[in-house]
Amino acid sequence: MIAATGVAMVQSADIMILAQTISDARTERDKLGRMALVPTMGALHAGHLSLIELARKHAPKVAVSIFVNPTQFGPREDFNKYPRPIEDDLAKCRDAGVDLVFNPPVEQMYLPNFFPEVHLDIPNLSNVLEGRIRPNHFKGVCQVVAKLFNIIRPDVACFGQKDYQQYLVIRAMADALNWPTEIVPGQTLREPDGLAMSSRNQYLSANERERGLSISRALFAARDEFAKGIRQTNRLLATAQNILLDPGNQGRVPLSIDYVAAVDAQTLKDIQVVSTPTLIAVAARVGKTRLIDNVMLIP
Ligand code: PAF
Repeated sequence: MIAATGVAMVQSADIMILAQTISDARTERDKLGRMALVPTMGALHAGHLSLIELARKHAPKVAVSIFVNPTQFGPREDFNKYPRPIEDDLAKCRDAGVDLVFNPPVEQMYLPNFFPEVHLDIPNLSNVLEGRIRPNHFKGVCQVVAKLFNIIRPDVACFGQKDYQQYLVIRAMADALNWPTEIVPGQTLREPDGLAMSSRNQYLSANERERGLSISRALFAARDEFAKGIRQTNRLLATAQNILLDPGNQGRVPLSIDYVAAVDAQTLKDIQVVSTPTLIAVAARVGKTRLIDNVMLIP
């Protein structure tokens, strides 16, 4: 059953509460005890469902937030076209046994008298990689995650490692501010052919999807070289770049690289030789769709 203010859908003996206002979310959360939160922007796929499963291992009650947060999108990004299949998302949450869904409208989260300049920033972690290409992205992410944490007060929150930098930034924010929420990373889920699952994959045409596969192929090739003993990141990155820019692929659908980087997995600083856990990260545009992915190298 989905119980919201005035709406109920019967499915099983379990009740899933749908809260659309902050005050309802707070009231319902208070009834639920230890809770793990999976923050999402909706368009849920198997990757999100695996985070819900992970959340369940950490707490008896699971909440999912579904909110396409305007403050983390740049002016020329896909905020308006971002998919919002809310009925489908609610059904997936209900089937996954979620206890509370928080799905506020934008005006609940950002009241007219909201101070947009109130930000949390962790420049060392958030100005590199994604932050260099999307300048205010992490300010928006930290802002909304802080708001979600203050509303839901989760004991645990789960974030996928496809957005590894986001996970690290949020973990640092929670640590720095002594928030009691434990930040737990979840593995990247992939399609059988290797493409990292993402809500944005649905923008891709068949040709673009095929072209987008070169991102995971490039990362896997770098990982294979590392497994064979190569430690110089310039060699690993050259291997990845050659696959991404293979002229045999370029003709059909263009792919443009935003970055291919090898960074220390804790500091996100560029590294030359892999001697500590290292993230190889790629961001690229295939047609109009921007995709990111990464692999971790553990020496
Ligand atoms: O990863 C996402 O879906 C979003 O960045 C998040 C964490 C839900 C904040 O809007």
